[in-house]
Amino acid sequence: MDRPVNLIKMGGSIITRKNSYRYFRSQVASKIIKEIMEIDGEKIIVHGGGSFGHIKSLEYGIPGEITPKRLAGASLVHSDMLELSSRIAGLFASLGEKPYIFSTSSLFRQGEMDYAEPVSYLRKGLIPLLFGDTYISGNRVLIYSGDRIMLDLSRQIKPSKVIFFSDVDGVFTDDPKENPEAKLLQRIKGTAGINATGKDATGGMKLKLETMVEVKRYSKEVYIINGRFPERIRETDSADFKGTVIE
Ligand code: IPE
Repeated sequence: MDRPVNLIKMGGSIITRKNSYRYFRSQVASKIIKEIMEIDGEKIIVHGGGSFGHIKSLEYGIPGEITPKRLAGASLVHSDMLELSSRIAGLFASLGEKPYIFSTSSLFRQGEMDYAEPVSYLRKGLIPLLFGDTYISGNRVLIYSGDRIMLDLSRQIKPSKVIFFSDVDGVFTDDPKENPEAKLLQRIKGTAGINATGKDATGGMKLKLETMVEVKRYSKEVYIINGRFPERIRETDSADFKGTVIE
């Protein structure tokens, strides 16, 4: 039997400092990676953009129709994302692991993403590393978010476990950074009753949440956990689990 496959997203909000352009939180990322490596089975990693992706995408007006300015933005953001990926790969490598970066926009062929290569590298024992990226399609400059990659990969490989590492404890009834009354939801089935606000270059919190819920169709276990306390992943079966389980 194949070993279980874990699909893990390191959210841009946790591995970078949101409002400081290209500020990488290397210690936080390193702690998450150490914890990831304790999980049994194969791993495929996706990371978001945080301040390496969203700041310049918004500044250059991406997504939108091709203009010289947007093309310059796509070029810059893609390079910045590759740099973030390299830093993350470096942390895996420093633990003796074998990460392998796939430039997401290069997987976009004939109108859709083709994950055959990352999946085949996974089977060979490497740790594929993918990331939310800019890409050009038709006459538009677009962003393929890390969350969409998570959904695509879930559909394709049916991972046994999916983990989203975020900068908050899980899904709340409201934005916990804005509303102190917001309550952590230990289990959710859908997005009803959740006031997901917060905007970014890829559709904001609401779309993120909807995507996570959809991922559950393809995996037995889907968790949202605070990346500052990645060890919480060991306690998903406990009544005191601090995080959100998608049912
Ligand atoms: C965005 O990916 C990537 C770019 C803006 C280029 P995500 O939307 O998955 O990133 P985070 O996790 O929200 O930062």
